[in-house]
Amino acid sequence: MTDAQNDAQSEADRPATHRDLRVHPSILSADFTDLAAEVRRIPTADAVHVDVMDNHFVPNLTLGLPVVERLAQVSPLPLDCHLMVEAPDRWAPAYAEAGAQGVTFHAEAAAAPVRLARELRRLGARAGVALNPATPVEPWFDLLGEVDMVLVMTVEPGFGGQSFLDVTLPKIRRLRQAISARHLQVAVQVDGGVSAETVGRAAEAGADVFVAGSAVYGQEDAAAAVDDLRERARAALAGASASQG
Ligand code: DX5
Ligand code: ZN
Repeated sequence: MTDAQNDAQSEADRPATHRDLRVHPSILSADFTDLAAEVRRIPTADAVHVDVMDNHFVPNLTLGLPVVERLAQVSPLPLDCHLMVEAPDRWAPAYAEAGAQGVTFHAEAAAAPVRLARELRRLGARAGVALNPATPVEPWFDLLGEVDMVLVMTVEPGFGGQSFLDVTLPKIRRLRQAISARHLQVAVQVDGGVSAETVGRAAEAGADVFVAGSAVYGQEDAAAAVDDLRERARAALAGASASQG
């Protein structure tokens, strides 16, 4: 085993309570007329989650490459781009070239997901694959080494402000187990309905990257809301491992 593999293995084997927990606020709930100021409201965040919607893959239209290119120049935080678009094989690489740290495409939309993930990594981005609530995770177990992150959608994609779907929790749990069993360092992101009330359940199931739109930008003090979510996730993990003895 190489040193890098050794590091990855020891990271994967760390107890859940020691896992890095990251909060990525979604600017879908921010003021689109002043995004440069909105990203500065969340200095406590680990990255900015950017929802790209094409009105085909989901029934909503948000922003695209020109906005992401400009945002990458002005944002003090790395960009985590979530592409809810058809034909990501064609469109996703440009987001990596635009400077996004992470580019996540939907499994349901990609024609050749392994080739696409390799292309994104070759361009220097972290590759992510997103799964809608009804999309099974098991077909991805043997491909986990090809991605840096799996996004488990905890609502149907398309809109902010929806309620967290608890029916996705078993999928998060099975995914975390599959990653640990393979000693891989793959992040598990949850997106949709993540709030002070739900973040603990997602963390306990195995998520370690938490996207939150309305729960952050709907608060007067967005930076404090980010810290509060991270703290609640941490507390839930600590509680879960204490009760396991
Ligand atoms: C929904 C988007 C989410 C959205 C989450 O399709 O992918 O990123 O911004 O918004 P909240 O946190 O309000 O559910
Ligand atoms: Zn998203």
